[in-house]
Amino acid sequence: MKQIAVLGLGVVGRGVADLFRENAATVAARCGEEVVLKYALDIRDMPDSPYANLLVRSIDPILADPEVSVVAEVMGGLHPAYEYTRACLDAGKSVVTSNKELVATYGVELLALAREKGVYYLFEASTGGAIPVIAPIVRDLAANEVTGISGILNGTTNYILTRMFRAGASFEAALTEAQQKGYAERNPAADIEGIDACRKICILSASATGILPDPARVHTEGITAIRQKDVRIAEKNGYTLKLLGKMEKKPWGTFVLVSPFFVKRTDPLSSVEDVFNGIKVSCNYAGEVMFYGRGAGSHPTASAVAADIVSVVRGDAKRQTWTLGEEDYPTDFRLYRTRHYLALSGVEQNAVTVIWEDAEILGSDGEELAVLTPEISEQELEDSLARLSSLGARLQSHIRVSVE
Ligand code: HSE
Repeated sequence: MKQIAVLGLGVVGRGVADLFRENAATVAARCGEEVVLKYALDIRDMPDSPYANLLVRSIDPILADPEVSVVAEVMGGLHPAYEYTRACLDAGKSVVTSNKELVATYGVELLALAREKGVYYLFEASTGGAIPVIAPIVRDLAANEVTGISGILNGTTNYILTRMFRAGASFEAALTEAQQKGYAERNPAADIEGIDACRKICILSASATGILPDPARVHTEGITAIRQKDVRIAEKNGYTLKLLGKMEKKPWGTFVLVSPFFVKRTDPLSSVEDVFNGIKVSCNYAGEVMFYGRGAGSHPTASAVAADIVSVVRGDAKRQTWTLGEEDYPTDFRLYRTRHYLALSGVEQNAVTVIWEDAEILGSDGEELAVLTPEISEQELEDSLARLSSLGARLQSHIRVSVE
């Protein structure tokens, strides 16, 4: 029998505890032995919890118990999750986690410590909720060069955008619904400002390349500026709107970014709706591989946490080694190339076509001209917008277009 502990009995921790109780027979059959939850660390009193008898308020009994071989850190945040994770690894216990902030910040160091101690630091649940994506990248696509990743990586924002499209819901109402369903972060700014997706694309990128981008160097935009007007224009022109995390390897550099994108209806990512996440991985031999499933929520995330625990118990887990990206990694965002949707007021169509001869004019509502630029660099966009501004144009909205 293997004994485990869970750090944090919140939305995900409760799901992990439920899974090891309800799926005990399945887990035992797959592992060849029982896996039993022995401790649940939480500082809150939970007299009504079915796991009240497992509650401890300190990490010490877990660290001191040689029978606990795997710890699930699902408390979130950097501290004390970082200190607890180090302490568990130091004590010779494998750690599995859903904590994307911790992995994106300290992943290099924690992976190295796990290797040194002969244990595992695994984080399938940190990215894509229930979706197996990190293990397939690390294991099944290992013989490929990964040339690109494009993913809907945040369930909350995908839920909000879907509701804005389908029901004409306001941003605020859709956010409240997502919070009530347990998808959102404690501080939803991390969701709606793209920070959560940034951490996840950094983790995926590192899993594919071995180089962890510094999240602070990743161009990150959220969805707060998206208007109903943009949604309607996208819809009318055969696009949907998605918050995408992207890693793109080009001959002129490797780019990592998070931004809302116009996504063509023919792109499979466009049909990833509600809390679902979808991740396309482009490989030089496998071609394009796509992953899809529930990206947030208690039981879906618990499924991925449990998958990592099972792989440690079975002895088929895979260790990663990461290095931290240097100062020029990812490549300067000004060199990133794509198309752009612009909504401009105070400007005539010919001022736009003088700059971009082959710009696609989507139409005008009398106040704003909606335009799709050709594929240009961010630097070219900035320079051209400055020229348009000197002609009296005002930029009302700007959303990138996914051009794969
Ligand atoms: N807040 C995150 C999301 C939770 O909405 O995707 C899962 O990481």
